[in-house]
This record gives sequence, structure tokens and C-alpha cells, in this order.
Amino acid sequence: MLKTVLITGSNKGIGYETARQLGQRGFKVFLSGRNEVRVNQSLQKIRNEGIDADKLIMDVSDLESVQEAAFEFSKRNIKLDVLINNAAILLQEDRSLLCNDPNIIERTIQTNSLGVINVSKEFLKFIPKGGRIINISSSGGAMSDEVGGWSPAYCVYKAGVNMITKQLAFELLSKNISVNSLCPGWVQTDMGGQSATRNVKKGAETPVWLASDAPQSLTGKFFRDMKEIPW
Ligand SMILES: NC(=O)c1ccc[n+]([C@@H]2O[C@H](COP(=O)([O-])OP(=O)(O)OC[C@H]3O[C@@H](n4cnc5c(N)ncnc54)[C@H](OP(=O)(O)O)[C@@H]3O)[C@@H](O)[C@H]2O)c1
Repeated sequence: MLKTVLITGSNKGIGYETARQLGQRGFKVFLSGRNEVRVNQSLQKIRNEGIDADKLIMDVSDLESVQEAAFEFSKRNIKLDVLINNAAILLQEDRSLLCNDPNIIERTIQTNSLGVINVSKEFLKFIPKGGRIINISSSGGAMSDEVGGWSPAYCVYKAGVNMITKQLAFELLSKNISVNSLCPGWVQTDMGGQSATRNVKKGAETPVWLASDAPQSLTGKFFRDMKEIPW
């Protein structure tokens, strides 16, 4: 039977490419984003490649929007084999935890950390035993890496994503749902910029692997290039 994947923030970048690669492997993909026009354009593009795709309009930073999207999904009467929490922001103005406008911190936590909890919670009812939740994190959120002085709020709330992964992996063990974090590397997207060392195809490699081929016994672990990395 066709497997279904929902990817948040998948109207462009790593999310879109992950949807494309999973679609090519026979998944039914749900593209999702906060802007209907952008989502519709991406939906048209992915369908033009012959991929079985649908859409959900969802702003992950807004609980009401997440709940409406879950209600919309419930009307399809299908299960959700894989949820990929990909949507995130990295704000230009995010330069200092002490000097940032509080609004920068708030927007970043709402999208990058709370969004992951709220989407996982609202879509959990559709995820069957053997399902997977994949959280796109960053080495910027790894406590084991040196602090580089860039985008501190982004890094703090990506570290939050990593702890959310560990907590959810523990909570969902009895339901046989695996939960993992990954770092895609530095990828050429609107967020990563054009100087990034990896193309988007490479950036999607690990999320695609975690969504399809990775053993579920790896739940609760953090990956880059399909290899476990330290938190
Ligand atoms: N690129 C890198 O080098 C890199 C490195 C490490 C980790 N990552 C992580 O990889 C993931 C994808 O990043 P990317 O490089 O593909 O970024 P991107 O090109 O900026 O794409 C981000 C996506 O998230 C969506 N989004 C942002 N806020 C949202 C919200 N509130 N609700 C729903 N969707 C929202 C954006 O939608 P709009 O079009 O509406 O803005 C867009 O579709 C992120 O989690 C990022 O932190 C990226």
C-alpha cells in the first residue's frame, strides 16, 4: 500500500526536494506551507513530475492553523506513515541573545521549537505503529559543537529540537513510532545561501533515508550523512 508523508515547510528548499525524492520512491506526499500561493505553485510543479501529491496549508507557528490542518487531513481518512518537521526560520536580525529584539526570539521559538511539538501532537493520531517522525535540526543546535557566534536564537531552538526528539522518542517507544533528528549539512537554499557547500539533492539525502530505509531501532538518535552524530 502507498505510504504517506507530510513535510512541513515544503514549498521550497530541503523540504520540497525531500518531497520530490520520496514521491519518486512511490510515497504519496503532502506538501505544506503557510502561504497558499507558494504551496499551490510547488504542488503544480511536483505533480508535473508525475508525483502523487496533495497539500495542507499550515503555519507551524500558529496552533490554530496546525489544528485546522489536522482537521483537513482527517477528512482524507488515511494514515500518515511519516511526518517530517522541516519548517524553520533563521532571521537576519538574529545576532545576539542579549540584544535581540524579543520578537526575534519569540518568532524563532514559535516556529523552530514549539512548531515541532504542536505539529507532532496534532498529527500523532494519524501515525500508525511503525510510523516515523523526523525532525530537521542543525549542527547549530548540537551542544557538542563549538559556538560560532552566528544566529544564536536559531541555534538555541535547534538545540530545543534535539531535546524534543529525545523526549518524543521516549514517549512514543510504546507506540512503536520512531523519532529522529538530523542535520542536512550546509545546503544551497534561501536559508543556506548560495555559498553553501551542498546542493539541495544532497541535503535531502538523510531525511529521505530516515523516512524510508533507516532501521527504526535507531529511534532517538541524531544523524548527518546517514551516520549517527553526537548531540
Ligand atoms: N540550508 C541549510 O544550510 C540548513 C542547514 C542546517 C539545517 N537546515 C534546516 O533545514 C530545514 C529546511 O531549511 P531550508 O534550507 O530548506 O530553508 P528554506 O529554503 O528557507 O525553507 C524553509 C521552509 O520553511 C517554511 N516555513 C518557514 N516558517 C514557516 C511557518 N511558520 N509555517 C510553515 N512553514 C514555514 C518556508 O516557507 P515560506 O516560503 O513561506 O517562507 C519554507 O518552505 C530547516 O529546518 C533548517 O533549519 C538548513
